[in-house]
Amino acid sequence: MGGGSAYPLGWLNGSFVPAGDVRLPLLAPGVSYAAAVFEGIRAYVRADGGGIALFRMGDHLERLLRSAAVLGLDEIPQPALMAEAIVGLMKRNAVAEDCYIRIQVYVDGEGEMTARGPTGMAILARPRPQLTERLERGIRCQVSSWRRIGDNASPPRIKAAANYLNSRLAGLQAKADGYDTALLLTEAGQVAEAPGACVLMVRDGELLAPPVTAGILESLTRDTVLRQARASGLVARVSERPVDRTELYAASEIMLVGTGMEVVPVVGVDRFAVGDGCRGPVTEALQDRYFALVRGGEPSPEGWLTPVTPDLETQE
Ligand SMILES: Cc1ncc(COP(=O)(O)O)c(C=O)c1O
Repeated sequence: MGGGSAYPLGWLNGSFVPAGDVRLPLLAPGVSYAAAVFEGIRAYVRADGGGIALFRMGDHLERLLRSAAVLGLDEIPQPALMAEAIVGLMKRNAVAEDCYIRIQVYVDGEGEMTARGPTGMAILARPRPQLTERLERGIRCQVSSWRRIGDNASPPRIKAAANYLNSRLAGLQAKADGYDTALLLTEAGQVAEAPGACVLMVRDGELLAPPVTAGILESLTRDTVLRQARASGLVARVSERPVDRTELYAASEIMLVGTGMEVVPVVGVDRFAVGDGCRGPVTEALQDRYFALVRGGEPSPEGWLTPVTPDLETQE
């Protein structure tokens, strides 16, 4: 999850419990067979100092619902219940800084691989301070020799725990070879995404994004940044289209985007420098706009920011 240790309280199957008690049983299909889906959601301190707000929580919970449906669960927790649990957890932990929330829905009990229930649900949160150096200096990526999993094998469109084996293998290889992270290609050899983030690139004044059919998670950050780029006039055009590997070497700027990653410049791919080998102007401008938005410093569409107001009663 990154950041420090979890806040003292977690949430498990309907109750607020000590964070250390949020554990999954070994024999649950959610553990044994990775029959689990999850979301990572961030909350940010508002730019005007007026408390904290969750960013696009409703959209994350809708995606969790879609992921859980593909998992084949008999009983799928409703977004309203999940939202109440998340906000309640933040209030009870008196969260007052940037933080990250992990919510996991899984097959509990001791069933077979195809068990459809009972449904388990667990939530933990922890502080997540901004990684300024990474945002400024950027990271270096390796095009992985592992291929991105396909929609007909282990669909990347759903945020399933099982998909992260593929991510892990690519990440391990990249780190062993001295890179920060990986970029995965589809079986057809086109750019998909990073192990835990989507990739965007700038070529000849155009912002390019591999399409949602390129073996990627339908990322909310990707959607946010593409909308901001379209509205801003920062680039001549924004295109979602298949991207070849060598376009990564020809790009003047590349960035990774995701809830955890935020908007991070990629300054090298394989042995090639990206552009001048440092953060480019479009990336920097998109970072500024992204942080202004998530911190409520510029207007956002209805429902994107959920304020968490301290509730003194629950802190006693
Ligand atoms: C594989 C993968 N791709 C992309 C993303 C970005 O998605 P989002 O922006 O919705 O967090 C994530 C998670 O952050 C991810 O795990």
